[in-house]
Amino acid sequence: MSIGRRRLKLVGILMMVNFLIYVIVEVSKSDSQDKGGKGQVIVPQGKFWKKCAASNAYWNREQQKLDRLYNPILNLLNNVTVEEMVAINASLLNSCEMDTNIPSEIKDFDSLPDRFKDFLFYLRCKNYSLVLDQPTKCKEKPFLLLAIKSLSPQFDRRQAIRESWGKEIKVNNMTVVRVFLLGDTPTEDNHPDLSNLIKYESELYKDILLWNYRDTFFNLTLKEVLFLKWVSHSCADVQFIFKGDDDVFVNTHQILDYLKMLSAEKAKDLFIGDVIKDAGPHRDKKLKYYIPESLYEGSYPPYAGGGGFLYSGNLALRLYNATSKVLLYPIDDVYTGMCLEKLGLAPEKHKGFKTFDIEEKHRNNICAYSDLILVHPRKPQEMIKIWSQLQDSGLNC
Ligand SMILES: *[C@@H]1O[C@H](CO)[C@@H](O)[C@H](O)[C@H]1NC(C)=O
Ligand SMILES: *[C@@H]1O[C@H](CO)[C@@H](O)[C@H](O)[C@H]1NC(C)=O
Ligand SMILES: *[C@@H]1O[C@H](CO)[C@@H](O)[C@H](O)[C@H]1NC(C)=O
Ligand SMILES: *[C@@H]1O[C@H](CO)[C@@H](O)[C@H](O)[C@H]1NC(C)=O
Ligand SMILES: *[C@@H]1O[C@H](CO)[C@@H](O)[C@H](O)[C@H]1NC(C)=O
Ligand SMILES: *[C@@H]1O[C@H](CO)[C@@H](O)[C@H](O)[C@H]1NC(C)=O
Repeated sequence: MSIGRRRLKLVGILMMVNFLIYVIVEVSKSDSQDKGGKGQVIVPQGKFWKKCAASNAYWNREQQKLDRLYNPILNLLNNVTVEEMVAINASLLNSCEMDTNIPSEIKDFDSLPDRFKDFLFYLRCKNYSLVLDQPTKCKEKPFLLLAIKSLSPQFDRRQAIRESWGKEIKVNNMTVVRVFLLGDTPTEDNHPDLSNLIKYESELYKDILLWNYRDTFFNLTLKEVLFLKWVSHSCADVQFIFKGDDDVFVNTHQILDYLKMLSAEKAKDLFIGDVIKDAGPHRDKKLKYYIPESLYEGSYPPYAGGGGFLYSGNLALRLYNATSKVLLYPIDDVYTGMCLEKLGLAPEKHKGFKTFDIEEKHRNNICAYSDLILVHPRKPQEMIKIWSQLQDSGLNC
């Protein structure tokens, strides 16, 4: 080989190596942007190549389809045409027709409890409308939004929260505002008609958000999605959000103390609560959290118990984005964990969240509450009592 040809070959090889490095850098760049832009390289724990076998469980199978739809690299590799994508899209997204195919998709459908049938028939429908709104709730950029899941008949719980930990206050320029999240309790389901009272309550206290879907346990995930949508549209500037149940006591001042000490970096991706790791679906039919094998298989991502968690407003916007990429799951806090996982994030455990209560011997000791964030469960009268004791300026813990 002549020197000239050898040099030409060398240049050729160098060019190819350069091109390969370029490709690797570009691919890893786009990957780390997906992971919430934290700029860290995420090393996969398992094998890099995972064969994606179709699952036997309905939720997993449908989620795999959604994952494909939202994966541009896979679409390119599989040579999926835009027409095909749109066809997948239409069947996967936003249909509010009753899905009459479902019974043939799940082998034991007929024997499932009714709540699963109700859930599955309208699995794709998420665009319910607000019947009662508070469009100006966030006009003065709140520091903390308290969003409390409640049910129409539970007026006493809401009132106790208004009079205690849910007060709309301003502490050192940190504004706290409050909304209750409600669905419909329709008379078709033999509920008494409370609609006029709820309307009155909303006019009086200006803190009710009510959507026109049936407010059931399995529809709590809808409550989550619709709330995140509301934040994106009507409260996008809020700095932090506490979302929780109406049977918890929350030490709001402790939350404010915690938040004002946070670094900007930590605040951006903040998501804390009572985190449950390495959990999976319950298979005992008698349990409230029972999930049949034909619906879901595999474990759950880490998630923060739905009794209450605290997160940043910025993350709420990204979570709302993620909800279009995750099929509704009947357990709301697990669903939120799934959306966080899509963003490459995980909730962080904070020991101030006592969703399984504190030791019985400490329950009447007010000092036990002074550095906690949340205790579950508490009755309305207990909330008011604990709150007023905590406000006592003579309190010495
Ligand atoms: C991709 O699709 C186009 C148009 O349908 C076809 O002409 C082409 O051969 C396909 N390529 C591969 C690698 O399948
Ligand atoms: C899928 O639907 C969404 C919203 O309806 C739309 O923005 C997107 O362009 C669609 N994707 C394809 C490939 O059709
Ligand atoms: C949601 O949107 C679909 C069209 O995308 C529409 O057919 C349906 O009526 C809407 N559902 C509700 C509950 O508003
Ligand atoms: C108080 O908050 C408002 C609005 O967020 C801001 O414009 C103002 O500078 C703040 N004042 C102080 C003293 O931090
Ligand atoms: C959730 O709400 C929708 C709309 O009201 C309803 O069709 C569906 O049956 C409800 N699902 C459950 C599990 O109650
Ligand atoms: C939501 O997703 C869209 C498209 O993927 C992106 O352009 C937008 O910046 C995202 N918004 C947030 C708040 O992450």
